[in-house]
Amino acid sequence: MRILGISGSLRRGSHNRKLLRAAGALLPPGVELVEWDGLAGLPAFDEDLENTPPAPVKAFFEAIERADALLIATPEYNASLPGALKNAIDWASRPFPDNVLRYKPTAVVGASTGLFGAVWAQAEVRKTMKASGAHVLEDELPVGMADYAFADGQDALSDPELTARLKDLLGDLVREVNTPVEASSS
Ligand SMILES: Cc1cc2nc3c(=O)[nH]c(=O)nc-3n(C[C@H](O)[C@H](O)[C@H](O)COP(=O)(O)O)c2cc1C
Repeated sequence: MRILGISGSLRRGSHNRKLLRAAGALLPPGVELVEWDGLAGLPAFDEDLENTPPAPVKAFFEAIERADALLIATPEYNASLPGALKNAIDWASRPFPDNVLRYKPTAVVGASTGLFGAVWAQAEVRKTMKASGAHVLEDELPVGMADYAFADGQDALSDPELTARLKDLLGDLVREVNTPVEASSS
């Protein structure tokens, strides 16, 4: 099983990238996390190009199609999700409703340097992904005070409770993949 990890941050030392890597290390056997690195290469969404998407957009769609599930790690920018991430979701949501996100099992996590762990951004990502047709888990994972949340020099979370919550969330995501859509939506 393949999970596509999408970081909403482009920053080299991003805490959200670290969070994806922490998740990758907690997956059950037989499940891999592949990090998508195309966010910076997507052009701004243009509805005129919806039927002839540019190459980076096509590559993004293919990465989503190849994945059984998505794990999105978002920072919070000005009480919302980063514009680049919203742009990516807007591309992936088209053409609606038969887009690459339809029924795609998705979990959302987030890290911020403030106390609240990007909870507003996570809520926005869940809302836009649901509106796009993805199957979005309700649970969130707020990693606050992100400058101090990761073990020194590593990508693992230092708090065992947060680590357990992340592992649970990933377990739920894997179960969602293994549950037929009809059953999970009833
Ligand atoms: C443009 C901008 C806006 C931000 N707004 C918020 C915010 O509203 N709430 C918050 O908790 N942190 C905010 N932050 C701080 C980010 O949480 C912090 O930079 C975080 O480390 C970004 O994620 P990253 O480490 O994955 O790049 C903001 C940062 C930037 C650059």
